[in-house]
Amino acid sequence: MSKKIIVVGASSGIGAEIAKEHLKSGNEVCLIARRKEKLDQISNEFPNSKSIVLAHDVTKFFEVESLFQQIIKELNGLDEIYYASGILERVKIDEFNTQKDISMMNTNTLGAIAWLNEAAKYFQKQGKGKIIGISSIAGDRGRVGNPVYNTSKAAINTYLEALRNRLARKGILVLTVKPGFIDTDMVKGMQGLFWVISANKAAKIIINATNKNKECIYVPARWALVAFIIKNIPSFIFKRLNV
Ligand SMILES: NC(=O)c1ccc[n+]([C@@H]2O[C@H](COP(=O)([O-])OP(=O)(O)OC[C@H]3O[C@@H](n4cnc5c(N)ncnc54)[C@H](OP(=O)(O)O)[C@@H]3O)[C@@H](O)[C@H]2O)c1
Repeated sequence: MSKKIIVVGASSGIGAEIAKEHLKSGNEVCLIARRKEKLDQISNEFPNSKSIVLAHDVTKFFEVESLFQQIIKELNGLDEIYYASGILERVKIDEFNTQKDISMMNTNTLGAIAWLNEAAKYFQKQGKGKIIGISSIAGDRGRVGNPVYNTSKAAINTYLEALRNRLARKGILVLTVKPGFIDTDMVKGMQGLFWVISANKAAKIIINATNKNKECIYVPARWALVAFIIKNIPSFIFKRLNV
């Protein structure tokens, strides 16, 4: 039987590939992002699968409750929700820019909370469902390069963990996804990237982990080793490093 899926942040990168993989499998997908033309393009690629396209800015938090209800009605239920919307503002090593910081917190963290709270309420009542949050390895430690991108991801990690602890006993899966470097618009032009994989490969890993009811994954898995090392470097050494 086909599954009913919401992908928030489906217009490009990882979210677009997750949406495409589900449409390819014949699942019904609601695609959400601001760039409607990109969502329409994806929807048109899969004429034999049902898709709903919704232009929405995730920073309009108070629109989410009614949009969510509208989608549930149109899909006639929900099995999985993926939150893949995110931005990475480029900041200089000595720059402190509150406007950029607020934008990242709004999109990466508060937008996720607005959407995933609705899903949590719905799944809690239904007694089943899967919530997948795309975070980042960047949330594992506060680093010199982009303090508030790190913060936005650390906050979403804690939120997802708490959601998991609340909802696991009700039979609901909450998966935290921590990608390393993925070849998407977000990292275009960045220097010094390594172990880069395609967004499609990342999407397949994430869907596979969802099907296997995993709770937290690095994408690809070898980033878990990097995370382990980074998390265990003592602070007095870490603050001298440029990572
Ligand atoms: N690429 C990497 O190396 C990497 C590594 C670790 C984690 N991640 C995380 O992976 C997630 C997906 O990023 P990506 O790499 O796939 O980048 P991407 O190609 O730039 O995709 C970002 C997605 O977020 C959506 N988005 C941004 N602002 C939005 C807003 N205000 N309202 C609604 N949607 C919004 C974009 O859609 P619209 O612009 O059409 O709204 C787009 O669909 C992000 O959370 C990112 O932090 C990426």
